[in-house]
Amino acid sequence: MRIAMIGTGYVGLVSGACLSQFGIDVVCVDKDRDKIDGLNRGELPIFEPGLDTLMANNVSAGRLIFSTDLPPAVDKADAVFIAVGTPSRRGDGHADLSHVFDAAKEIAAALNGYTVVATKSTVPVGTSDEVERIIGSLRPDAEFDVVSNPEFLREGSAISDFMRPDRVIIGTESKRAGEVMGHIYRPLYLIETPVLFTTRPTAELIKYAANGFLATKITFINQIANLCEKVGADVQDVARGIGLDGRIGPKFLHAGPGYGGSCFPKDMLALARTAQEAGNPLRIVETVIEINNTRKRQMAERIIDACGGSVQGKTIAILGLTFKPNTDDIRNAPSLDILPALQAAGASLRAFDPKGMEEAKEILTGIHWCGGAYESMNGADALAILTEWNEFRALDFDRIKSLLKKPVMVDLRNIYNPREMAEAGIQYFCIGRSDMNRKAGL
Ligand code: UDX
Repeated sequence: MRIAMIGTGYVGLVSGACLSQFGIDVVCVDKDRDKIDGLNRGELPIFEPGLDTLMANNVSAGRLIFSTDLPPAVDKADAVFIAVGTPSRRGDGHADLSHVFDAAKEIAAALNGYTVVATKSTVPVGTSDEVERIIGSLRPDAEFDVVSNPEFLREGSAISDFMRPDRVIIGTESKRAGEVMGHIYRPLYLIETPVLFTTRPTAELIKYAANGFLATKITFINQIANLCEKVGADVQDVARGIGLDGRIGPKFLHAGPGYGGSCFPKDMLALARTAQEAGNPLRIVETVIEINNTRKRQMAERIIDACGGSVQGKTIAILGLTFKPNTDDIRNAPSLDILPALQAAGASLRAFDPKGMEEAKEILTGIHWCGGAYESMNGADALAILTEWNEFRALDFDRIKSLLKKPVMVDLRNIYNPREMAEAGIQYFCIGRSDMNRKAGL
């Protein structure tokens, strides 16, 4: 079995490396020569735990190669995966499908023998049909089927998500294509992974509906957290209490500063647009988008309130810039709203993130970049935790108090326990849990 993976972003690179681990010969293709040259030197363009070892093992086994040359990769392939970026189109929030359609045209020219063309990028309903039309019009002679095969991996746990997925979704009505896809995912069959065969539009909508539901679930608990603060309840216990209901489940009920990343924000916009254009607007999705965007902006207000209502002339230590831990990705991270708002309110910022600072430096300006968590706290008036990196989970309270001008911590990820913080003499502000400061006289 030979596969060509078109696109070496998070999805393409992880999928290509994992499929080669299945024993399949994979050629990962990208137009970006620098990226391909780097990959051929063993340099990864992204940080993803375990990906370097997985890639190195399969490159040395001769099953995984990187190339800028699409035609020979497609010519020899039994299946070609389109895993190029589908960013939000400027201005209207639709998914920009130009890279998908460009890839379809290049693939068409190189097809040789029966080939499955699988759309793995997150694409709006109907895109696979359009890919089939493009290829068919350019190559009426070619023997091929287009399949929708969306990916559900999460950054930071992408390899385990690919290797042990909750399910595989395959959208096709071609028996022959189904057999090829079944062969590709056979190692997952062996661990009894559910494989759902359905139509292409259904497979495409499953992806958006999944992300839409997850983003809604997060936004729901964030809203409940706000209510908890008003009525003196504890959102973590509410999450635990509802999550024990098998119909709800415990995951994605961590209240925080709002969701970010390269997927939820863009996929929610695309889903809302698709629904509007279909004459069936998804009001829930539209409302979740608006609430989440507002929430990220509101988080700066929380930090300002914790500093007595003004951060003018004050220094704030910021821990965490990435949209979640175990990634270097800061796309749509709450930090991109929070830090500029604090600066606009007159604060100076000292920031540290274990992996995200290089990307952050491209976007955020006027920040004092620090080499570690405690360095950021040096002389600061308050500390704010924006991302729940493990290394922020056991900070030394005495050291924090010795470094900060005032022992004030705003924990937007509920890493710490309010009672413990009160006992440690730290004014602690968090999400959706009772304020122990007053009771502790802080
Ligand atoms: C998401 C989907 O989970 C994945 O299935 C899809 O393939 C791509 O998009 P990803 O964006 O990598 O994955 O990260 P995820 O772990 O889903 O977190 C997304 C955002 O939600 C992050 O900003 C995270 O901090 C936030 N989040 C997640 C919460 O605020 N609370 C939670 O309980 C879970």
